[in-house]
Amino acid sequence: MLRSICSGFARTSSVAVQTTNFRRLLRTVEALSELGPALTAEREFSETSRLMLSAIMEAAGAREGALFLFNDKPAMLSSAAAQGFALMPDPAFIPLLPKHAHALSAARGPVVLNASTYSVFLSSNGNVAPDLFKCLAPLKAAGKLAGVVALGRRPGDVQYEDDELDAMELLCSYVALAVHNHALTQTIAQRVSENLRLMASLHGFYDNALEAFATAIDVKHVNIHGHSLRVGRYAAAIGEAMGMEPGEVAALRSAGYLHDIGKVAVDRRLFGKPGALDPEEFREMADHTVVGHQIVSSVQFPWPKIPEAVRWHHERSDGTGYPDQLSMNDLPMPVRIVGLADSFDAMTTIRPYREPLSVGSALTDLVRLSPQKYDPNVVQALLIQVRRDSVGSNRTPLLADRISVNIAAGDIDQLAATLQHKVSRAKAYSV
Ligand SMILES: [Fe+2]
Repeated sequence: MLRSICSGFARTSSVAVQTTNFRRLLRTVEALSELGPALTAEREFSETSRLMLSAIMEAAGAREGALFLFNDKPAMLSSAAAQGFALMPDPAFIPLLPKHAHALSAARGPVVLNASTYSVFLSSNGNVAPDLFKCLAPLKAAGKLAGVVALGRRPGDVQYEDDELDAMELLCSYVALAVHNHALTQTIAQRVSENLRLMASLHGFYDNALEAFATAIDVKHVNIHGHSLRVGRYAAAIGEAMGMEPGEVAALRSAGYLHDIGKVAVDRRLFGKPGALDPEEFREMADHTVVGHQIVSSVQFPWPKIPEAVRWHHERSDGTGYPDQLSMNDLPMPVRIVGLADSFDAMTTIRPYREPLSVGSALTDLVRLSPQKYDPNVVQALLIQVRRDSVGSNRTPLLADRISVNIAAGDIDQLAATLQHKVSRAKAYSV
Protein backbone atom coordinates (compact mmCIF):
# COMPACT_ATOMS: atom_id res chain seq x y z
CA MET A 1 0.00 0.00 0.00
CA LEU A 2 2.74 2.36 1.12
CA ARG A 3 4.75 1.47 -2.00
CA SER A 4 1.78 2.21 -4.25
CA ILE A 5 1.21 5.56 -2.48
CA CYS A 6 4.91 6.33 -2.82
CA SER A 7 5.02 5.34 -6.47
CA GLY A 8 1.83 7.34 -7.05
CA PHE A 9 3.45 10.37 -5.44
CA ALA A 10 6.65 9.86 -7.45
CA ARG A 11 4.62 9.64 -10.64
CA THR A 12 2.67 12.80 -9.77
CA SER A 13 5.81 14.70 -8.90
CA SER A 14 7.59 13.45 -12.04
CA VAL A 15 4.59 14.57 -14.12
CA ALA A 16 4.80 17.97 -12.38
CA VAL A 17 8.53 18.20 -13.15
CA GLN A 18 7.93 17.15 -16.74
CA THR A 19 5.15 19.73 -17.08
CA THR A 20 7.44 22.44 -15.71
CA ASN A 21 10.24 21.37 -18.05
CA PHE A 22 7.86 21.25 -20.95
CA ARG A 23 6.59 24.76 -20.19
CA ARG A 24 10.14 26.03 -19.96
CA LEU A 25 11.07 24.31 -23.20
CA LEU A 26 8.03 25.83 -24.84
CA ARG A 27 9.05 29.26 -23.53
CA THR A 28 12.56 28.87 -24.94
CA VAL A 29 11.26 27.72 -28.31
CA GLU A 30 8.85 30.64 -28.35
CA ALA A 31 11.68 33.01 -27.48
CA LEU A 32 13.85 31.50 -30.23
CA SER A 33 11.11 31.85 -32.80
CA GLU A 34 10.73 35.50 -31.80
CA LEU A 35 14.47 35.97 -31.85
CA GLY A 36 14.88 34.65 -35.42
CA PRO A 37 12.97 37.48 -37.12
CA ALA A 38 14.50 40.00 -34.71
CA LEU A 39 18.02 38.99 -35.71
CA THR A 40 17.35 38.93 -39.43
CA ALA A 41 15.18 42.05 -39.74
CA GLU A 42 16.73 45.25 -41.00
CA ARG A 43 16.37 47.07 -37.72
CA GLU A 44 18.49 49.51 -35.86
CA PHE A 45 20.69 47.63 -33.41
CA SER A 46 19.07 49.28 -30.36
CA GLU A 47 15.74 47.76 -31.37
CA THR A 48 17.33 44.35 -32.03
CA SER A 49 19.03 44.49 -28.60
CA ARG A 50 15.74 45.21 -26.89
CA LEU A 51 14.03 42.26 -28.61
CA MET A 52 16.91 39.89 -27.87
CA LEU A 53 16.91 40.89 -24.22
CA SER A 54 13.13 40.42 -23.93
CA ALA A 55 13.42 36.93 -25.44
CA ILE A 56 16.14 35.90 -22.97
CA MET A 57 14.27 37.35 -19.98
CA GLU A 58 11.12 35.54 -21.04
CA ALA A 59 12.93 32.21 -21.37
CA ALA A 60 14.78 32.61 -18.06
CA GLY A 61 11.72 33.91 -16.23
CA ALA A 62 13.52 37.14 -15.26
CA ARG A 63 11.85 40.38 -14.20
CA GLU A 64 14.94 42.53 -14.71
CA GLY A 65 17.69 42.28 -17.29
CA ALA A 66 20.31 44.18 -19.27
CA LEU A 67 22.30 43.48 -22.40
CA PHE A 68 25.85 44.84 -22.31
CA LEU A 69 28.33 45.20 -25.16
CA PHE A 70 31.99 44.53 -24.41
CA ASN A 71 34.55 47.11 -25.45
CA ASP A 72 38.15 45.94 -25.54
CA LYS A 73 40.16 49.16 -25.24
CA PRO A 74 39.50 50.29 -22.58
CA ALA A 75 37.91 47.12 -21.20
CA MET A 76 34.34 48.08 -20.39
CA LEU A 77 30.74 46.89 -20.54
CA SER A 78 28.17 49.38 -21.78
CA SER A 79 24.46 48.71 -21.92
CA ALA A 80 22.64 48.38 -25.26
CA ALA A 81 19.28 47.57 -23.66
CA ALA A 82 17.83 47.29 -20.15
CA GLN A 83 14.43 46.32 -18.88
CA GLY A 84 12.62 46.12 -15.55
CA PHE A 85 15.21 47.76 -13.27
CA ALA A 86 13.83 50.64 -11.23
CA LEU A 87 17.11 52.56 -11.36
CA MET A 88 19.28 51.91 -14.37
CA PRO A 89 21.22 54.72 -16.05
CA ASP A 90 21.13 54.83 -19.84
CA PRO A 91 23.70 53.93 -20.89
CA ALA A 92 24.94 51.96 -17.90
CA PHE A 93 28.65 51.21 -17.98
CA ILE A 94 30.98 49.03 -15.96
CA PRO A 95 34.75 49.44 -16.39
CA LEU A 96 36.52 46.07 -16.16
CA LEU A 97 39.94 45.14 -14.81
CA PRO A 98 41.93 42.52 -16.75
CA LYS A 99 40.91 39.88 -14.17
CA HIS A 100 37.20 40.61 -14.80
CA ALA A 101 37.55 40.41 -18.58
CA HIS A 102 39.50 37.19 -18.15
CA ALA A 103 36.90 35.62 -15.82
CA LEU A 104 34.05 36.56 -18.18
CA SER A 105 35.93 35.17 -21.19
CA ALA A 106 36.75 31.95 -19.34
CA ALA A 107 33.23 31.30 -18.00
CA ARG A 108 31.72 28.31 -19.76
CA GLY A 109 28.12 29.46 -19.57
CA PRO A 110 25.75 31.51 -17.42
CA VAL A 111 26.79 31.93 -13.78
CA VAL A 112 24.66 32.68 -10.74
CA LEU A 113 26.14 35.54 -8.75
CA ASN A 114 26.41 35.85 -4.99
CA ALA A 115 28.16 38.12 -2.52
CA SER A 116 31.49 36.37 -3.01
CA THR A 117 31.46 36.22 -6.85
CA TYR A 118 30.47 39.79 -7.84
CA SER A 119 34.03 41.01 -7.64
CA VAL A 120 35.26 38.05 -9.73
CA PHE A 121 33.30 39.21 -12.79
CA LEU A 122 32.43 42.88 -12.33
CA SER A 123 33.90 46.02 -10.85
CA SER A 124 31.91 48.53 -8.87
CA ASN A 125 33.60 51.50 -10.60
CA GLY A 126 30.81 52.10 -13.11
CA ASN A 127 27.52 53.92 -12.81
CA VAL A 128 25.63 50.76 -11.86
CA ALA A 129 25.99 48.56 -8.77
CA PRO A 130 26.98 44.94 -9.61
CA ASP A 131 24.70 43.55 -6.90
CA LEU A 132 21.67 44.48 -9.03
CA PHE A 133 22.52 41.38 -11.04
CA LYS A 134 21.77 37.84 -9.92
CA CYS A 135 22.93 35.97 -12.98
CA LEU A 136 25.43 36.68 -15.78
CA ALA A 137 25.81 35.08 -19.20
CA PRO A 138 28.92 35.99 -21.18
CA LEU A 139 28.27 36.38 -24.92
CA LYS A 140 31.11 34.82 -26.88
CA ALA A 141 31.61 34.63 -30.62
CA ALA A 142 34.68 33.44 -32.52
CA GLY A 143 36.21 32.60 -29.11
CA LYS A 144 36.08 36.21 -27.94
CA LEU A 145 33.94 38.05 -25.44
CA ALA A 146 31.40 40.21 -27.30
CA GLY A 147 29.09 41.18 -24.45
CA VAL A 148 27.22 40.06 -21.36
CA VAL A 149 23.59 39.43 -20.54
CA ALA A 150 22.97 40.31 -16.88
CA LEU A 151 19.70 39.30 -15.27
CA GLY A 152 18.31 40.79 -12.09
CA ARG A 153 15.57 39.43 -9.87
CA ARG A 154 12.92 36.90 -10.76
CA PRO A 155 9.30 37.25 -9.61
CA GLY A 156 9.19 36.34 -5.90
CA ASP A 157 12.99 36.64 -5.75
CA VAL A 158 13.39 32.93 -6.54
CA GLN A 159 16.81 31.63 -7.54
CA TYR A 160 17.85 30.86 -11.11
CA GLU A 161 17.94 27.07 -11.49
CA ASP A 162 19.78 24.88 -13.98
CA ASP A 163 16.85 24.80 -16.40
CA GLU A 164 16.71 28.59 -16.65
CA LEU A 165 20.46 28.70 -17.13
CA ASP A 166 20.25 26.08 -19.92
CA ALA A 167 17.53 28.03 -21.73
CA MET A 168 19.55 31.20 -21.33
CA GLU A 169 22.72 29.58 -22.66
CA LEU A 170 20.92 28.35 -25.75
CA LEU A 171 19.57 31.80 -26.59
CA CYS A 172 22.81 33.55 -25.71
CA SER A 173 24.72 31.67 -28.42
CA TYR A 174 22.45 33.32 -31.02
CA VAL A 175 22.56 36.70 -29.35
CA ALA A 176 26.38 36.54 -29.19
CA LEU A 177 26.57 36.23 -32.98
CA ALA A 178 24.32 39.24 -33.50
CA VAL A 179 26.35 41.32 -31.02
CA HIS A 180 29.64 40.20 -32.60
CA ASN A 181 28.42 41.12 -36.12
CA HIS A 182 27.26 44.49 -34.87
CA ALA A 183 30.67 45.17 -33.28
CA LEU A 184 32.48 44.30 -36.55
CA THR A 185 30.23 46.58 -38.58
CA GLN A 186 30.64 49.37 -36.03
CA THR A 187 34.42 49.17 -36.15
CA ILE A 188 34.52 49.46 -39.93
CA ALA A 189 31.85 52.17 -39.97
CA GLN A 190 33.73 54.17 -37.31
CA ARG A 191 36.99 54.02 -39.23
CA VAL A 192 35.41 55.14 -42.48
CA SER A 193 33.53 57.88 -40.69
CA GLU A 194 36.73 59.13 -39.03
CA ASN A 195 38.48 59.23 -42.41
CA LEU A 196 35.61 61.21 -43.92
CA ARG A 197 35.65 63.66 -41.01
CA LEU A 198 39.39 64.04 -41.27
CA MET A 199 39.11 64.74 -44.97
CA ALA A 200 36.38 67.30 -44.33
CA SER A 201 38.52 69.11 -41.79
CA LEU A 202 41.66 69.05 -43.96
CA HIS A 203 40.37 69.95 -47.37
CA GLY A 204 36.75 70.92 -47.22
CA PHE A 205 34.55 68.83 -49.43
CA TYR A 206 35.20 69.13 -53.08
CA ASP A 207 34.77 66.85 -56.02
CA ASN A 208 38.30 65.47 -56.24
CA ALA A 209 38.38 64.33 -52.63
CA LEU A 210 34.98 62.69 -52.93
CA GLU A 211 35.95 61.09 -56.22
CA ALA A 212 38.86 59.50 -54.42
CA PHE A 213 36.46 58.19 -51.81
CA ALA A 214 34.08 56.80 -54.45
CA THR A 215 37.00 54.96 -56.05
CA ALA A 216 37.94 53.52 -52.67
CA ILE A 217 34.40 52.15 -52.20
CA ASP A 218 34.42 50.51 -55.61
CA VAL A 219 37.76 48.71 -55.21
CA LYS A 220 35.92 46.28 -52.96
CA HIS A 221 35.26 44.03 -55.94
CA VAL A 222 35.90 44.04 -59.68
CA ASN A 223 32.15 43.81 -60.32
CA ILE A 224 31.54 47.26 -58.88
CA HIS A 225 34.62 49.05 -60.21
CA GLY A 226 33.70 52.55 -61.25
CA HIS A 227 30.06 52.17 -60.12
CA SER A 228 29.97 55.01 -57.57
CA LEU A 229 31.75 57.42 -59.93
CA ARG A 230 29.28 56.69 -62.70
CA VAL A 231 26.26 57.01 -60.39
CA GLY A 232 27.60 60.41 -59.29
CA ARG A 233 27.98 61.48 -62.91
CA TYR A 234 24.55 60.18 -63.99
CA ALA A 235 22.83 61.77 -60.97
CA ALA A 236 24.43 65.15 -61.72
CA ALA A 237 23.45 64.90 -65.39
CA ILE A 238 19.84 64.06 -64.50
CA GLY A 239 19.72 67.04 -62.12
CA GLU A 240 21.08 69.29 -64.87
CA ALA A 241 18.44 68.07 -67.34
CA MET A 242 15.79 68.84 -64.71
CA GLY A 243 17.01 72.43 -64.56
CA MET A 244 18.53 72.30 -61.07
CA GLU A 245 20.93 74.94 -59.72
CA PRO A 246 24.71 74.26 -59.92
CA GLY A 247 24.85 73.79 -56.13
CA GLU A 248 22.13 71.15 -56.25
CA VAL A 249 23.87 69.41 -59.16
CA ALA A 250 27.11 69.32 -57.14
CA ALA A 251 25.21 67.84 -54.20
CA LEU A 252 23.76 65.13 -56.45
CA ARG A 253 27.22 64.25 -57.75
CA SER A 254 28.51 63.90 -54.18
CA ALA A 255 25.48 61.88 -53.08
CA GLY A 256 26.05 59.55 -56.03
CA TYR A 257 29.74 59.17 -55.15
CA LEU A 258 28.90 58.23 -51.57
CA HIS A 259 25.59 56.37 -51.97
CA ASP A 260 27.14 52.90 -51.50
CA ILE A 261 29.64 53.85 -48.79
CA GLY A 262 28.03 51.26 -46.46
CA LYS A 263 29.35 48.53 -48.77
CA VAL A 264 32.71 48.83 -47.02
CA ALA A 265 31.12 46.70 -44.30
CA VAL A 266 29.77 43.99 -46.66
CA ASP A 267 31.62 40.72 -47.15
CA ARG A 268 33.66 40.99 -50.39
CA ARG A 269 32.62 37.43 -51.36
CA LEU A 270 28.99 38.50 -51.88
CA PHE A 271 29.88 40.83 -54.76
CA GLY A 272 31.21 37.97 -56.86
CA LYS A 273 28.66 35.31 -55.97
CA PRO A 274 27.39 33.71 -59.18
CA GLY A 275 23.65 33.46 -58.57
CA ALA A 276 21.09 34.95 -56.25
CA LEU A 277 22.03 35.79 -52.66
CA ASP A 278 20.37 33.68 -49.97
CA PRO A 279 18.15 35.58 -47.48
CA GLU A 280 20.94 35.99 -44.93
CA GLU A 281 23.36 37.28 -47.57
CA PHE A 282 20.71 39.58 -49.00
CA ARG A 283 20.14 41.06 -45.54
CA GLU A 284 23.85 41.73 -45.14
CA MET A 285 23.98 43.37 -48.58
CA ALA A 286 20.78 45.39 -47.93
CA ASP A 287 22.22 46.63 -44.63
CA HIS A 288 24.75 48.74 -46.57
CA THR A 289 22.03 51.41 -46.69
CA VAL A 290 21.70 51.58 -42.89
CA VAL A 291 25.45 51.27 -42.23
CA GLY A 292 26.18 53.93 -44.86
CA HIS A 293 23.64 56.24 -43.26
CA GLN A 294 25.35 55.78 -39.87
CA ILE A 295 28.70 56.65 -41.43
CA VAL A 296 27.66 59.83 -43.24
CA SER A 297 25.29 61.06 -40.52
CA SER A 298 28.23 61.87 -38.30
CA VAL A 299 29.89 64.04 -40.95
CA GLN A 300 29.00 67.69 -41.46
CA PHE A 301 28.30 67.93 -45.20
CA PRO A 302 27.56 71.18 -46.97
CA TRP A 303 24.62 69.31 -48.59
CA PRO A 304 21.95 68.08 -46.18
CA LYS A 305 20.43 65.46 -48.51
CA ILE A 306 23.46 63.16 -48.61
CA PRO A 307 22.51 60.98 -45.60
CA GLU A 308 18.98 60.56 -47.02
CA ALA A 309 20.30 59.50 -50.44
CA VAL A 310 22.66 57.01 -48.78
CA ARG A 311 19.89 55.46 -46.69
CA TRP A 312 17.04 55.49 -49.20
CA HIS A 313 18.55 54.93 -52.66
CA HIS A 314 17.02 51.41 -52.75
CA GLU A 315 13.52 52.64 -51.84
CA ARG A 316 10.98 52.42 -54.68
CA SER A 317 7.88 54.51 -55.47
CA ASP A 318 5.45 51.67 -54.65
CA GLY A 319 6.97 51.02 -51.21
CA THR A 320 8.67 47.74 -52.19
CA GLY A 321 12.22 48.98 -51.57
CA TYR A 322 14.37 48.96 -48.43
CA PRO A 323 15.29 49.67 -45.65
CA ASP A 324 12.22 51.72 -44.64
CA GLN A 325 9.66 50.77 -47.34
CA LEU A 326 8.93 54.41 -48.13
CA SER A 327 6.77 55.41 -51.08
CA MET A 328 7.27 58.08 -53.75
CA ASN A 329 5.79 60.97 -51.75
CA ASP A 330 8.17 60.31 -48.84
CA LEU A 331 11.25 60.35 -51.04
CA PRO A 332 12.99 63.70 -51.61
CA MET A 333 13.92 64.42 -55.24
CA PRO A 334 17.70 63.88 -54.79
CA VAL A 335 16.96 60.41 -53.39
CA ARG A 336 14.80 59.52 -56.42
CA ILE A 337 17.53 60.75 -58.75
CA VAL A 338 20.35 58.81 -57.09
CA GLY A 339 18.10 55.70 -56.95
CA LEU A 340 17.45 55.85 -60.69
CA ALA A 341 21.09 56.59 -61.55
CA ASP A 342 22.08 53.56 -59.43
CA SER A 343 19.57 51.26 -61.16
CA PHE A 344 20.58 52.46 -64.63
CA ASP A 345 24.24 51.74 -63.92
CA ALA A 346 23.49 48.35 -62.35
CA MET A 347 21.41 47.34 -65.38
CA THR A 348 24.07 48.31 -67.90
CA THR A 349 26.91 46.63 -66.00
CA ILE A 350 27.92 42.98 -66.14
CA ARG A 351 26.99 40.83 -63.15
CA PRO A 352 28.36 37.38 -62.26
CA TYR A 353 24.98 35.93 -63.20
CA ARG A 354 24.08 37.97 -66.31
CA GLU A 355 25.37 39.99 -69.23
CA PRO A 356 24.87 43.77 -69.13
CA LEU A 357 21.71 45.15 -70.70
CA SER A 358 22.14 47.46 -73.67
CA VAL A 359 21.34 51.14 -73.05
CA GLY A 360 18.17 50.75 -75.14
CA SER A 361 16.93 47.73 -73.15
CA ALA A 362 17.75 49.39 -69.82
CA LEU A 363 15.83 52.56 -70.77
CA THR A 364 12.89 50.46 -72.04
CA ASP A 365 12.81 48.63 -68.68
CA LEU A 366 12.98 51.89 -66.71
CA VAL A 367 10.07 53.33 -68.70
CA ARG A 368 8.14 50.09 -68.15
CA LEU A 369 8.80 50.35 -64.38
CA SER A 370 7.57 53.98 -64.16
CA PRO A 371 5.72 55.27 -62.23
CA GLN A 372 5.45 52.09 -60.09
CA LYS A 373 9.16 52.02 -59.17
CA TYR A 374 10.67 55.26 -60.48
CA ASP A 375 9.63 58.90 -60.75
CA PRO A 376 8.71 59.46 -64.44
CA ASN A 377 10.14 63.01 -64.34
CA VAL A 378 13.53 61.61 -63.37
CA VAL A 379 13.35 58.90 -66.06
CA GLN A 380 12.41 61.64 -68.55
CA ALA A 381 15.52 63.62 -67.58
CA LEU A 382 17.72 60.55 -68.10
CA LEU A 383 16.15 60.06 -71.55
CA ILE A 384 17.01 63.68 -72.39
CA GLN A 385 20.66 63.17 -71.44
CA VAL A 386 21.03 59.88 -73.33
CA ARG A 387 19.39 61.50 -76.38
CA ARG A 388 21.97 64.30 -76.21
CA ASP A 389 24.67 61.63 -76.23
CA SER A 390 23.11 59.88 -79.19
CA VAL A 391 23.11 63.05 -81.32
CA GLY A 392 26.53 64.13 -80.04
CA SER A 393 25.38 67.34 -78.36
CA ASN A 394 26.71 66.59 -74.83
CA ARG A 395 29.97 68.49 -74.31
CA THR A 396 31.17 65.67 -72.05
CA PRO A 397 29.36 62.53 -73.21
CA LEU A 398 27.52 60.82 -70.38
CA LEU A 399 28.13 57.24 -71.39
CA ALA A 400 31.12 57.41 -73.69
CA ASP A 401 33.79 55.92 -71.48
CA ARG A 402 32.29 52.44 -71.31
CA ILE A 403 29.06 51.91 -73.20
CA SER A 404 28.43 53.21 -76.65
CA VAL A 405 24.94 54.52 -77.15
CA ASN A 406 23.24 51.88 -79.24
CA ILE A 407 19.88 53.54 -79.43
CA ALA A 408 18.77 56.07 -82.03
CA ALA A 409 17.34 59.48 -81.10
CA GLY A 410 14.03 58.46 -82.71
CA ASP A 411 13.75 55.40 -80.44
CA ILE A 412 14.41 57.57 -77.39
CA ASP A 413 11.67 59.95 -78.53
CA GLN A 414 9.37 56.94 -78.83
CA LEU A 415 10.22 55.91 -75.24
CA ALA A 416 9.62 59.48 -74.03
CA ALA A 417 6.19 59.44 -75.71
CA THR A 418 5.34 56.10 -74.06
CA LEU A 419 6.39 57.52 -70.70
CA GLN A 420 4.23 60.63 -71.17
CA HIS A 421 1.30 58.48 -72.18
CA LYS A 422 1.67 56.31 -69.05
CA VAL A 423 1.87 59.37 -66.80
CA SER A 424 -1.19 61.10 -68.29
CA ARG A 425 -3.14 57.83 -68.17
CA ALA A 426 -2.20 57.37 -64.48
CA LYS A 427 -3.34 60.97 -63.82
CA ALA A 428 -6.64 60.37 -65.63
CA TYR A 429 -7.29 57.30 -63.44
CA SER A 430 -6.39 59.03 -60.20
CA VAL A 431 -8.74 61.99 -60.83
FE1 LIG B 1 23.27 50.55 -53.02
